[in-house]
Amino acid sequence: MPTVLILGAGSDMAVALARRYAAAGHTLQLAARNPGQLRSLEQDLRIRHRIAATVHAFDALDFDSHAAFYQSLPTPPDIVICVFGYLGSQEKGQADWKEASRILHTNFTGAVSILNIVAEDMASRGKGTIIGISSVAGDRGRMSNYLYGSAKAGFTAYLSGLRNRLWHSGAHVMTVEPGFVATQMTQHLKLPPLLTAQPDQVAADIFKAAENKKNVLYTKWFWKYIMLIIKNVPEPIFKKKKL
Ligand SMILES: NC(=O)c1ccc[n+]([C@@H]2O[C@H](COP(=O)([O-])OP(=O)(O)OC[C@H]3O[C@@H](n4cnc5c(N)ncnc54)[C@H](OP(=O)(O)O)[C@@H]3O)[C@@H](O)[C@H]2O)c1
Repeated sequence: MPTVLILGAGSDMAVALARRYAAAGHTLQLAARNPGQLRSLEQDLRIRHRIAATVHAFDALDFDSHAAFYQSLPTPPDIVICVFGYLGSQEKGQADWKEASRILHTNFTGAVSILNIVAEDMASRGKGTIIGISSVAGDRGRMSNYLYGSAKAGFTAYLSGLRNRLWHSGAHVMTVEPGFVATQMTQHLKLPPLLTAQPDQVAADIFKAAENKKNVLYTKWFWKYIMLIIKNVPEPIFKKKKL
């Protein structure tokens, strides 16, 4: 059975993904800043699904540690899911470079740093799947979250180029663009229930789309059409909206 590495494995979305892949019998490598927080999940997955699982320390912002982290994994993973992210505060980030750089470096630079290493490995093995969790926020900059949105836009473009490159060596890259998802990241926001997905639904969508080698997945599905409309609103009108 394939081995799945989940980067940022403590988040609600990542836990749902771990459960989905474990239910399908995959071996799991769970990585987070604080591996201690993953112990009970690891044990639960082992007992419930009789799969092998390991936990690992990983900090997206500690770029210099990424090569050693990847080398230290028990086996090279077949599937790598890059889930970590940081929404942060747009308002704070406008005046405070520390907050702005944390948003940019977590969502973009950190992801590029670790996935560059994964990509080299998969290119040399001629197989593998990389799944990057980006966001619809990257499809068009809005005044309420353009720091996060621009980092995700960069990540989406990175994944697109990487997909193009790795296709020629036999590996697959899937970009995931969730809309609203009910997780810790959004618990302080009032999300419209009809537009909001649960982490389990997102995990099921990602699992199925990756099996089908989809290139870009919007989840829930209708976000593809919502974003098509948003992307096509003329700039003179868009800039007057307080979005
Ligand atoms: N929720 C939404 O509506 C939504 C919509 C679109 C896209 N997304 C994206 O979906 C992904 C999962 O988000 P979520 O909603 O599940 O968010 P979340 O609950 O806030 O989880 C974010 C995860 O990222 C990890 N993380 C943050 N900084 C890190 C670092 N420097 N190194 C390693 N891990 C780090 C956190 O780890 P700790 O446990 O150590 O804090 C946490 O587990 C993110 O990429 C997010 O941008 C979410």
